[in-house]
Formats: sequence, C-alpha cells, structure tokens
Amino acid sequence: MTVAEERQVEATEDIYSENGMKLVAKGYAINRSMRDRLIEHKLIKPLEDCMAVSDGVTGKRCAETAERMLDTYPVLRAMCTSERRASPVQLIADSTFAGRLQTLLTVYTEHQAGKLDHAVCVALVALSLTQRMMPGETDALSVMLVAALSHDVGELYIDPQYLQKGAELGPKEWRHIAAHPVIANNLLKDLTGLAKPAAALIMDHHERLDGFGYPQGLRSGEVSEHSQILAVAEMLGGMLDKGGGLLQQAEVAVKLIHGEFSRPVIDVVSRTFQEYREVDAATNNEALRDALTRSRELGERLDGILRVQDSYKPMFDRGSPPFKFLWRHAAERFESIRRAWSSTGLDVQPEGSWLTGEPTAMQREVAIIQKEINWRLKELDRELHARVIRLAAGDLPMLERYLKDVRALATDAESVTT
Ligand SMILES: [Fe+2]
Ligand SMILES: [Fe+2]
Repeated sequence: MTVAEERQVEATEDIYSENGMKLVAKGYAINRSMRDRLIEHKLIKPLEDCMAVSDGVTGKRCAETAERMLDTYPVLRAMCTSERRASPVQLIADSTFAGRLQTLLTVYTEHQAGKLDHAVCVALVALSLTQRMMPGETDALSVMLVAALSHDVGELYIDPQYLQKGAELGPKEWRHIAAHPVIANNLLKDLTGLAKPAAALIMDHHERLDGFGYPQGLRSGEVSEHSQILAVAEMLGGMLDKGGGLLQQAEVAVKLIHGEFSRPVIDVVSRTFQEYREVDAATNNEALRDALTRSRELGERLDGILRVQDSYKPMFDRGSPPFKFLWRHAAERFESIRRAWSSTGLDVQPEGSWLTGEPTAMQREVAIIQKEINWRLKELDRELHARVIRLAAGDLPMLERYLKDVRALATDAESVTT
C-alpha cells in the first residue's frame, strides 16, 4: 500500500516503547523518517495499529453517512431504532480504525462513488440483525461492524471496468469478481485486532446455503451464523444501492428465496419489516403504466428461459459432475422464479381484469414483483458466471452459449419493467 506513504499519517493514540516510555503523542503527524525510527523500537503495540491516514475514514465520517442513509430510507431508520438496544449509528461513530485496515477502508471508499454508502448501509443492517439474533454479544457486534464496512475491499484489486453498472461480463470477468471475498480475506486475515475475525466472515459473504454461492460453494452447516447475517445484510444493502423501496422489495425477495439464506435471519428481517409499513408511493408510479402488458411480456420471457433450459438439457446431461450440479441448481432457480410469478395470479388473468378497479396497493405489488424477478434473473446470471471457475474446460463453450441465450431473455425482461 503506497497510499500510507503518499498521504499524511498520524498517531491515533499515544505510542509507547516496551519499557513504558512515551515516544509519540496522539494526533502527531508521522512522516517517513519518524516511522523508520519508530520501527527500530520495541513498542507495546504494533506501530501499524497506532497510525491512520489523517484525512481517511473515521467512525465519525461513517456515522455521518449512516445518518444520511437513515434520512433517505425511513425503513432503515426503523430497523436501527430501539429503546432496548444501542444505536447502530452510535456504534459506528464510536469505532476507530487504524493501520492497514483504515488505509484499506479509505482507499476502497474513495475509489468509486457510492462505495462508502454501500459499506455503511450493509453495516447498519448487519449490526441491527446481530443485535436481534445475538443479544448481548458485544464482541460479535464489533467484529460485524468491521466485517460489514470492509466486506468489499477486495474489489480494489479488480479491474474497475468489470464493476461498472451494466458492464457486459463473461466467465473470465466474473472469475475476477468472484475472487473479491478471497482477496479481502487475504488482505485482512493477518492483521491484528478485529480485522482477523472479520476476515473469516467476509470470506463467506457471497456464499448461499443451497451451495450456489461463491467463492467456495459452501452449503448449509458450513457457513457460520455470523457470515449468514452478513450475507443477508449485503443482499438488503445491495437493494438500497439500486434505489428501490427497500421494504417492499425485501418482502418480495423474502418470498422468492428458497434455501439461499438463513431462515432465522430472514424471519427476523420479515418481522422487522412487519413492524414498519412504508407507503412508498413514489417508487413505482412510473412502472405501473401499462402494467398488464409488462407483466405479460415478463411472463413470456420467463417461459422462454424455461424453454432454453429444456432445449439444452440433453447436451448438459453429458457434462462433468460440477457442471451438472450447476445446471440442476440453475434449473431449480428459474423454476422457483416462475412459480413465484404464477403465485401472483397474473399469468392467468384475462385482459385488463385485475388492473381495472383494483386497489393501487395491488398494482404496486405487481411492479415490485416484476422488479424483483428481474433482479433475481441478474443475480442468477452472475452466479452462473461465478461458478464457471470450478468447471472442466470442456464445459465452457457449452455454458457460454447457454448463458448468452438466457442472458438475452433476462436482459430484455429488465428493459421491459424498469
Ligand atoms: Fe457488497
Ligand atoms: Fe461482495
């Protein structure tokens, strides 16, 4: 990390030698030559843990962002407000970051717009869920805070082009993206303090309990409870990034999730949302126009995807065992999405019948479901690409052709309903 050398670094606390002599006072600027001299001393605490980039990420700055997020998303404020529990914003405000962790957080949150918002949002949700799932476990809260804020620092080592919204990504690009939890784990696991236990949580933040996540494809029973909380918080944080009405989207997402996330965590999320009903009238007025046409088109595209699945089946049955595993899960996911769509009843409604005279709330729900299904399709596309890492080389051309066909249908569905 050359950043620490390019930017001004200061002592985050008094620095003492092993025999108790105070060498540097808190707040003192530490230049290169002073650092070289300090390294020669035996110190009570590792030097890296006592220094931070002067104008870098601090708990206070994260808390300011957190307040802004709570103002923007009332449901998030409701989640984070309780008379019985410490305020997650206060926990964030009280935290201090030093050394390599603070440098990483600083570079990560500055390298692209919106990264600090995402990290803080995930932290707010993760802290609130941890408080509810693990009451009284203050150590777990401290680790979760660091894990949530730094969960995506591995993205720093990924070509920024791949991370751009709407970027066309093939298996090679996804392979890079899928490495970001591993990279973050490597960056943090040898540090002192909270970064080490946080690294283990971060490693699994994209794992899914049905074995369809990444990077390791772990299954239920192999992912720690803490990582499961982080994974759910990350999913909800990702929804906010897309600018949707969190409550309604999350409620629909919860309906569509089949064994991917921890049921107890999802139940806590559902209960929290039930306590707070957000009337988000502005979200979907636009999307409600021509809702019937849109819903029909989306239904047709989902059927199209299932037909693609069927047409590839004979060829896929000849693939390697990991490939067949991937294929089976993809098929199950699409079928569950289609089932969720059917459960709305929209696929059998005669022209206009549900639309005329129905309450606005129903129409809004339809728009949210459409949006959610599109998001699930995109997620699946991403996960299929991520899984490519473990496939035999011979499977790849077959998979790429299949993904192209499915993606064409999923992408069109997106343009229909956003
Ligand atoms: Fe993330
Ligand atoms: Fe991530």
